[in-house]
Formats: sequence, structure tokens, C-alpha cells
Amino acid sequence: MATPISLVFLLYVLLFLLCPLCSLKKGHTVAANEITKGYFRNVNVNSLLPSSVCDHSNKVLNKASSLKVVSKYGPCTVTGDPKTFPSAAEILRRDQLRVKSIRAKHSMNSSTTGVFNEMKTRVPTTHFGGGYAVTVGLGTPKKDFSLLFDTGSDLTWTQCEPCSGGCFPQNDEKFDPTKSTSYKNLSCSSEPCKSIGKESAQGCSSSNSCLYGVKYGTGYTVGFLATETLTITPSDVFENFVIGCGERNGGRFSGTAGLLGLGRSPVALPSQTSSTYKNLFSYCLPASSSSTGHLSFGGGVSQAAKFTPITSKIPELYGLDVSGISVGGRKLPIDPSVFRTAGTIIDSGTTLTYLPSTAHSALSSAFQEMMTNYTLTKGTSGLQPCYDFSKHANDNITIPQISIFFEGGVEVDIDDSGIFIAANGLEEVCLAFKDNGNDTDVAIFGNVQQKTYEVVYDVAKGMVGFAPGGC
Ligand SMILES: *[C@@H]1O[C@H](CO)[C@@H](O)[C@H](O)[C@H]1NC(C)=O
Ligand SMILES: *[C@@H]1O[C@H](CO)[C@@H](O)[C@H](O)[C@H]1NC(C)=O
Ligand SMILES: *[C@@H]1O[C@H](CO)[C@@H](O)[C@H](O)[C@H]1NC(C)=O
Ligand SMILES: *[C@@H]1O[C@H](CO)[C@@H](O)[C@H](O)[C@H]1NC(C)=O
Ligand SMILES: *[C@@H]1O[C@H](CO)[C@@H](O)[C@H](O)[C@H]1NC(C)=O
Repeated sequence: MATPISLVFLLYVLLFLLCPLCSLKKGHTVAANEITKGYFRNVNVNSLLPSSVCDHSNKVLNKASSLKVVSKYGPCTVTGDPKTFPSAAEILRRDQLRVKSIRAKHSMNSSTTGVFNEMKTRVPTTHFGGGYAVTVGLGTPKKDFSLLFDTGSDLTWTQCEPCSGGCFPQNDEKFDPTKSTSYKNLSCSSEPCKSIGKESAQGCSSSNSCLYGVKYGTGYTVGFLATETLTITPSDVFENFVIGCGERNGGRFSGTAGLLGLGRSPVALPSQTSSTYKNLFSYCLPASSSSTGHLSFGGGVSQAAKFTPITSKIPELYGLDVSGISVGGRKLPIDPSVFRTAGTIIDSGTTLTYLPSTAHSALSSAFQEMMTNYTLTKGTSGLQPCYDFSKHANDNITIPQISIFFEGGVEVDIDDSGIFIAANGLEEVCLAFKDNGNDTDVAIFGNVQQKTYEVVYDVAKGMVGFAPGGC
């Protein structure tokens, strides 16, 4: 019998032969030492550092079914406490845990962990809660809760009183099901209970209430599967919305009350609200953690959005096909098969972009060739290249534009705010793209690189679109 690896390889060979259009289109090329205006940007160095003042964008107000998005770090969080801003090393550490669990999900790998042993249920695949929060209403009478939204997970859940197995600290008061007239436990024989078992741990209490459990890269939730009234906006109220009422929760959720699941399964929000929103949502992640963006549901997306197909290769996550990368207007000579090997997903909760080694090394060397005016420094964070911009404080620097090309001729020119991550003040500012270590792990288009774009998930049509200037 042929091994799956050789079958996959054969498939790629066939695709490669049959699909001449899939190969890289000839890009605009410039010599390494030639600075082409328009492909380089003037960026003020201080804008690379986090700010301590929240600047509320008002674009959110122009949309009908729209929620304000804040970064879970920085001054716009519910705590409003800039001291909660974690170091770049800590952000990277959390990122690594999420990436590890996405890879596990991607390879359909599940491993036994202690968290669910006492529930004696099937162990779920894992991933980690995302990086941006919105506020929604739950229950009758409605109470507001700040939830992290996550395109990498499905179940929407909140911590529930009496937190019999423990809750993590959160800023809002915790949800108390006994104080809501619309809360109902789901029974073990209910459809949602049966279907939740496909992506999460599932069990049954002695009183026939459905139990769920999900483990993330840096946290977990276990509790009752229930239906409750979800209020997105005063006019968008969803009764009998399936949620998790988490009685045992742990991990890092940055003061929020739980997660809003924007994944692809039937229990995820897009599917549960599809009769109203037609399986379509979009978001804009703000340029800095000190400004706000939006998460919107239903129609009214930007006319400027350019769409690329969601691949079916990774059914649980939003898989996209990357066709190339350019730096400073120069298309990198990366064989398209490099991106096809494991595919790419777009994720709202992973911070950096993770690239196959071959692609990362081409990007890194082209970038360095165009940045010879600045002092390279050794990265302590496992990122490279890194620069010491401390001599340029208050000054502008000139950086090459980086563009990611997706199948269908979609070009995303990364915003100035999505090129670097300040790993240690201005002394160590690193390219915000990380090497996967090989070409066989799934690539991830992370949230830093999505900043300021309106990212449209038209799940019904199987497309993801990008429009610049979303917030
Ligand atoms: C720095 O760049 C900004 C655009 O990012 C520009 O508006 C400003 O004039 C530049 N300042 C200097 C001193 O070049
Ligand atoms: C699944 O996970 C286990 C433990 O983490 C690991 O040893 C194994 O190689 C993984 N299998 C695949 C196919 O990734
Ligand atoms: C939900 O089920 C749990 C466990 O059986 C029980 O303690 C709780 O009272 C139930 N809640 C409602 C509203 O029925
Ligand atoms: C380096 O700086 C010089 C002098 O400011 C400038 O003319 C040149 O274009 C810069 N080169 C690059 C690659 O930015
Ligand atoms: C790819 O690299 C990652 C990180 O360096 C490593 O964990 C993984 O095992 C590697 N996979 C293969 C197939 O070599």
C-alpha cells in the first residue's frame, strides 16, 4: 500500500503539471541596490513602539451589525491598564503554544492530557484563544461580556457561576445561569451535544446534561453545553444560541470572560447565525493596540475587497493558498510547491506570520539586502533579521514594502504596522515573520500582517477577501 506521504506527493506533482496558471506570475523586479519609489515606505520609528493612550476609531459606528474590536493587550483593553502589556518574548511564547496546537489540529493529531481524565471523554484537538476582544450580550436580562474572537475555534463560551471547578480572573462579573430566564442546559441526546463531540471532548452528567471540554494552547474550559440568548446588537438577538457554560476554566484569557468561536463547524457563530448573516463576517484589526477596529456580521462589505478561495484541504480552519511574496517590489524566487506542501491558514489569534523555511529564508535575505542602511542586531527572540533602531528614535526609516500574493491574483500589501515587532524597545526590532523550521508544517497568516485590512470571511461562497483601509 502506498504511504499517505507518497500519495500526497503524487498529487502535488500532478497539480504542478496540470496547473501552469498556479505558478508564480512574473513580478516587478528591481536590482537589490535600486530603490524604487512606491515600493519603499517612510515609517516613523516611534510608531513601532506600543502607545499607552487608547484612540477609539469611529469607523465601527458606520456599520449596522458591528462590534468594536480591541487588542487584548494595551490601553484599549477592558482593564485599560497599559501595565498588562506583555513582553514580546511572552507574546511569542503564547504564539508558539497556539501554533503548536494548530499544527496538532492540522495533522488531526490528538494526545491525552490530564484535563479531561475525570470526565472520561474523548480528548479534543487543541488550539489557543485569540488576540482581539469584542463585547456581546448574553442572557435575559442581557448582561455584557468581553470575549476574545477566534477564527481558529468553534464553540462560544463564557465562565459560569458557581465556577465549581475554578475560574480565571475576569473583568466583567461572571455569567450566572440562575439569573437568566433564557438559559437552558442541553441534554445528552440533543443534536448539538452529539455534534460537539466531533471537535471537543463531550460527556454526560448524572442529570443527563451535556458536558463539553476544549483545551487550547494556553488554556481550557469544561462545563455544560447550553442554549442562551446572544445579543450582538440591539436589533440582532439570537435565541437558543448554543454556548458553553464553563464551570472549570484556566489559562490566559487576559481578563475577558471567554471566547467567541468564528470557526467553520456547525456550532460556530457563523453557522448558528447563518439565517441572518448568511455565513459572512468581516473584521479589521487596528494598526496599534492603542486603537480600535471592528468585527461586523452580514453584508455591506467593502467594494474594494479582493477574494481568494478557502481551500478544503484543512476543513476545520480557514485555509488559503499563498502563491508568492514580494519585497520592495521584487518577487521572491520561491517555487510555488513550497506553499502547497502543507498549505496556509489565516488565523485571527496567531500574532506573527509563520512561513515555510524556504520562503522565510528568501524573504529574510531580500529584506536584509534592502535594509543595509540600518544596524543588524542579534535577535534574542528567535526572530531574524532584527535591527537596532535606537539611533533613529523620533526619525523616519525607509523600509521595503512586503506583499503576500494569494491564489486568484489577490495581493495584500502589508501595512507599515505589520512589518516589525519591537522585541526589546527600539534596540531590537524584528521582522514579524517566523521561520517554521521546515517546509512541511502548515504556514499561518497571522494577525500582525492582517492589521488595517478589512478581512472578509464569506464562508457561504468559500472565499476570504481583503480590502485595504478597513480601520
Ligand atoms: C516621516 O514619514 C511620514 C509618513 O510616514 C511623513 O508624513 C513625514 O513627513 C516624514 N518625516 C520626515 C522628517 O521625513
Ligand atoms: C502526534 O502527537 C504525538 C505526541 O505529541 C507525536 O509523538 C506524534 O508524532 C504526532 N503524530 C503526528 C502524525 O503528527
Ligand atoms: C444544568 O445542569 C447542572 C448539572 O446537572 C445543574 O446543576 C443546573 O442546575 C442545570 N441548570 C438548569 C438551568 O437547568
Ligand atoms: C541609504 O541611505 C542613503 C543616504 O540617505 C540613501 O541615498 C539610500 O537610498 C539608502 N539606501 C537604502 C537601501 O535604503
Ligand atoms: C518542523 O519544524 C518544527 C519546528 O522546528 C518541528 O517541531 C517539527 O517536528 C518539524 N517537522 C518535521 C517533519 O521535520
